[in-house]
Amino acid sequence: MRIIQSLGLLALATTPFAANLHPRNHETHEYYALHLRPDSSPAQVASALGLDLVGSLGELPDHYTFSSPRHRQHGADDILEDLRIRRRKRVAPTGLSALDGILWHQKQKPKPRMEKRNAIPPVPARQNIASGGIPTVVPVASQSSALPPAQQAAIAMRDEVARKLEIQDPIFGDQWHLYNTVQLGHDINVTGVWTQGITGHNATVVMVDDGIDMYSDDLKDNYFAEGSYDFNDNTDEPRPRLSDDKHGTRCAGEIAAVRNGVCGVGAAYDSKIGGLRILSKVITDEDEAVAMNYAFQKNQIYSCSWGPPDDGRSMDAPGILIRKAMLNAVQKGRQGKGNIYVFAAGNGAASGDNCNFDGYTNSIYSITVGAIDRKGLHPYYSEKCSAQLVVTYSSGSGDAIHTTDVGTNECYSNHGGTSAAAPLGAGVFALALSIRPELTWRDLQNILVQTAVPVNEKEEWDTTSIGRKYSHTYGYGKLDAYAIVEKAKTIELLKPQAWFKSPWLHVKHRIPQGVEGLLSSFEVTKEALENANLERVEHVTVTMNVNHTRRGDLSVELRSPTKMVSHLSVARRLDDAGVGYEDWTFMSVAHWGETGIGKWSVVVKDTMVNEHNGTFTDWRLTLWGESIEASKQGLLPMPTEHDDDDHDVISAVASTATISSSAAETPSINPTDHIDRPVNAKPTVPAPITGSNTPTEVAVTPKPTSTPTTSATPSPSTTAAPDNFLPHYFPTFGVSKKTQIWIYGSFAIIVVFCASLGTYFFVQRRRRARINRDDYEFEMVNDDDANTGLNGRTKGKRSKRGGELYDAFAGESDEELLSDEDEGYQDEKPEDREHRSGRVSPEEYNEKQ
Ligand SMILES: *[C@@H]1O[C@H](CO)[C@@H](O)[C@H](O)[C@H]1NC(C)=O
Ligand SMILES: *[C@@H]1O[C@H](CO)[C@@H](O)[C@H](O)[C@H]1NC(C)=O
Ligand SMILES: *[C@@H]1O[C@H](CO)[C@@H](O)[C@H](O)[C@H]1NC(C)=O
Ligand SMILES: *[C@@H]1O[C@H](CO)[C@@H](O)[C@H](O)[C@H]1NC(C)=O
Repeated sequence: MRIIQSLGLLALATTPFAANLHPRNHETHEYYALHLRPDSSPAQVASALGLDLVGSLGELPDHYTFSSPRHRQHGADDILEDLRIRRRKRVAPTGLSALDGILWHQKQKPKPRMEKRNAIPPVPARQNIASGGIPTVVPVASQSSALPPAQQAAIAMRDEVARKLEIQDPIFGDQWHLYNTVQLGHDINVTGVWTQGITGHNATVVMVDDGIDMYSDDLKDNYFAEGSYDFNDNTDEPRPRLSDDKHGTRCAGEIAAVRNGVCGVGAAYDSKIGGLRILSKVITDEDEAVAMNYAFQKNQIYSCSWGPPDDGRSMDAPGILIRKAMLNAVQKGRQGKGNIYVFAAGNGAASGDNCNFDGYTNSIYSITVGAIDRKGLHPYYSEKCSAQLVVTYSSGSGDAIHTTDVGTNECYSNHGGTSAAAPLGAGVFALALSIRPELTWRDLQNILVQTAVPVNEKEEWDTTSIGRKYSHTYGYGKLDAYAIVEKAKTIELLKPQAWFKSPWLHVKHRIPQGVEGLLSSFEVTKEALENANLERVEHVTVTMNVNHTRRGDLSVELRSPTKMVSHLSVARRLDDAGVGYEDWTFMSVAHWGETGIGKWSVVVKDTMVNEHNGTFTDWRLTLWGESIEASKQGLLPMPTEHDDDDHDVISAVASTATISSSAAETPSINPTDHIDRPVNAKPTVPAPITGSNTPTEVAVTPKPTSTPTTSATPSPSTTAAPDNFLPHYFPTFGVSKKTQIWIYGSFAIIVVFCASLGTYFFVQRRRRARINRDDYEFEMVNDDDANTGLNGRTKGKRSKRGGELYDAFAGESDEELLSDEDEGYQDEKPEDREHRSGRVSPEEYNEKQ
């Protein structure tokens, strides 16, 4: 057995893809994903667990897949569970067993199939059929005799372009999204790109979907076999096999239908198109992670028109393996420029759904594309959210997208939903990459921010600090292929990505019901951003915990120092889940270009006055953007799980609270976290807290010593030596990684201790100063109120309790409230405490002194 496994491993080393292609059968086998130490032997791990080694897990370094026939008796589950507990208790490994090399594991669970984004719900009764009804196909081209002169002229121009480009595809005239002769200007403005000879040469897009018909006459010449695989039926050809496997082919036609007299043409009709078939059977996270990195040096763009259900109830994020795969792709794929993930925003708007409740669309690594219809209107189905970057054309106002269908020479005239918008975006992005392949994943997003065209400007649009317009309904606006390609030709490439993470900020206060909100703020200083090597903000994420008995009642706003408001979350009438938000990360692209310096506030509201209530527990802000000094910037470490399955501990910032608690808990210094997010965050006292019956805010102002990563991270070119968890310039002392962790951990504890002593005296001084100010605190309220950094629209309302905002401490004595905050946690499990221990509040800090 062992010999066979070793041979398998050898084969693996010579043909790297062989392992990925190893068939999985979820009916007969169970699968395990393991992350191993680089020096451990997967074959030995397999035999110690009684499992078979399948091979390396896609492109994830040191990750392997193991399996067992379902009938086989093996001890793997018990052994792994035991290991998990030992890791959590930090029991030192014996140093003898192959099992010591297991850093993380996850038994694979077949998961519900992702929903295709073409399942457009019925038009709600109150909706006007004109803005998104069942499409009725109007053969536009054939009506020319009775048309107004402007349309006749447009038709003549389109025909002229078609002649020039030798487009003889029979439904080209129906492809209004490419050239709209009825609603003039309502198309992707692509013909001026094609006439320059820019038609997608050398660009590759892969449809991650239910297959593509590579034998269709309209696709076969552009089919990219090298980038394609069928993960559902374990074959090289992701061919549609089920009767409803049509979605991927229709999407593919929008991107790369060949200019050849069959049906229509794709937006990038000379680009290559592949397929990764994952939607037609049950798969696991492990399969999906492999698919999302499949041939990632050759597949440039991954077009994804699916996701968790758009039912206004679901709140699902991709699992840790998939998140790792996506980060891996943006860091290493496409020769290090990063793969482009394009995701459909979702069709659940009529059910009150919002794309920030979907962890794929709200990932910073995906470009979220929503829909507008042929009249440029917002179709009733297309979801809104602050993570939406752009929109483009799809079904509504009586028509849909005309494209290729499954079959030798089949066309389809009824393609729609945000499913049809995302691939159209992917096609446009292929045009940009075909002339400027060196654009990184962020450069492309930056181009979209700079070039998207606002639509329906009478609706709600905000002007951002860089003078762009943003709407939660349309993102930065609609795609204009010409503007995008022109910008792509000349735009200066961005420096690498940097990030700033705030500490976890405790709030722990009940949320008032109704129009009031509970506000918590965090001040980001110039030095903090300099330490983080962060020059300018692109994406902003807020990870938060809210405890509530009805999730759908909650809404969350993020207010930036420039007073830009992102609606991170909205109330959802159908969402009855009896939980709040658990370590959920919301994302916003609306702050693109801000400096990030100043006060960031989160406002949590419980919008319904009813029996359901809850508590805002804590949150953390992360600013992502362009680095100041490219040479100093390292890569983001792979994500780790916060929960029991992971060997890493969340504790991002070792607060002083950690120090004063029992010694056994202190070394919560996880290698990556330590490098990434140094431990010595020093919370200072809050901004002066105002009189007890006046609304104010929870302001937590840690000193900028919580420098994220950058200064200590390895430069992109440096990869840490296998047995050294720190960058190379840290000595290893010739000992194992574990021991290094202890050495550096102890050192860090000393540093933190000294830092906390300093903070202690600082806080004491501030505290005394504040006590002395007690008499006139009330007066300070008004001053404070005038410039609380709140949105101008709400200014003035805050001086009253009945204002829009509700302060965490209004009506309560400020400090005492939180000083007994730990009450409810008396008998919490050690692992829970560990989880919370990284989170700081000034009050907690004071109390611990
Ligand atoms: C569309 O493309 C043309 C060039 O073909 C360009 O002049 C124009 O600015 C673009 N945008 C719009 C909105 O027309
Ligand atoms: C495609 O790539 C090849 C090799 O990199 C290059 O020589 C060629 O000019 C490119 N074609 C186009 C149309 O950009
Ligand atoms: C808050 O969370 C705790 C533990 O998770 C739970 O027992 C409690 O019921 C929750 N409270 C509310 C209001 O949701
Ligand atoms: C929620 O309401 C119940 C009953 O009205 C109350 O006992 C509880 O303290 C409230 N919880 C919070 C967090 O406000």
